[in-house]
Amino acid sequence: MPKPRVLATRPLFPAAQQILNAGCDVEYWTKPERISKDELFQRVKDKEGLVCLLTEKVNEELLRAAPKLRIAANVAVGFDNIDVPACTKRGVVATNTPGVLDETTADFAWTLLMAVARRIGEGEQLARSGNWKGWDLDQLVGTDVWGKTLGLVGFGRIGRAVARRAAGFQMKVIYSDAIRAPLDVEKELKAEYRDFNALLAEADFVSVHVPLLPDTRGLFDGPKFYRMKPTTFLINTSRGPVVDEAALVHALETGKLAGAALDVYENEPFILPGLKRPNVVLAPHIASASLETRTKMASIAAENVVALFKGQRPPNMLNPEVLKTR
Ligand code: DGY
Repeated sequence: MPKPRVLATRPLFPAAQQILNAGCDVEYWTKPERISKDELFQRVKDKEGLVCLLTEKVNEELLRAAPKLRIAANVAVGFDNIDVPACTKRGVVATNTPGVLDETTADFAWTLLMAVARRIGEGEQLARSGNWKGWDLDQLVGTDVWGKTLGLVGFGRIGRAVARRAAGFQMKVIYSDAIRAPLDVEKELKAEYRDFNALLAEADFVSVHVPLLPDTRGLFDGPKFYRMKPTTFLINTSRGPVVDEAALVHALETGKLAGAALDVYENEPFILPGLKRPNVVLAPHIASASLETRTKMASIAAENVVALFKGQRPPNMLNPEVLKTR
């Protein structure tokens, strides 16, 4: 019996390749440059499985080009690149990689928070420049993190992992979410629920952990920045379009906000020139990028694909209804 044919748009990591190769006949895109839309459409047309990245859109157009496709396995927890209803309509299982990147992403949200508060980007530039004249009393003075109020917008797995780390900094933790967390979770994490606008007014650091949904697109717009204190910092490791970047630039330029630290952008890889300011720390969408975590993410995507072709339920289905009807 021939193995099902699968396209992986990156070579993945050895552990993930081993899983995928055992169950499937895999074509890997190995060129250093990203797969172009034309190449993707060309190569996916005879495939039953696709292992893809969040930079590839799995939409009606791609599905039409891939009539044999049975599964699209995203190597990411966020799946705004996948049109799940379109997949469902065509009987294609869509999967993601929840759970394995929570702690790593939370570490990185803290990395950004600390970096912007303590001006590490500016400090590093000065240290490397050859222009550093030595210690000075008022040189690159930043803002204390410890003892401040951390506001978490979105209190799912990643938001909670960020909250857990705040105890070491003796911070007060407040959060807002569409659904209030159970009381035992609030108690364990010493986190207090706030209405979104109240959180914006109170927090010294606002860290964003919501998925990109119609409701969260542009959640941080001009009026929201006006609700924040001019001493507040915004940290975003979720999805770029949650923040209206032009409004953010305006808030930074007019001193409505102390600074921002961003891992994600509205139109990646484009970064609005106005964001390239000393009080903004910029990272290239790497919050989950530890070798351990990226290996797990790729392995989970591979496991989802292999499970389907073994006649099992892929563990991370976004549209389980596809299999119910079979
Ligand atoms: C995800 O998994 O959604 C991240 O953005 C990739 O690290």
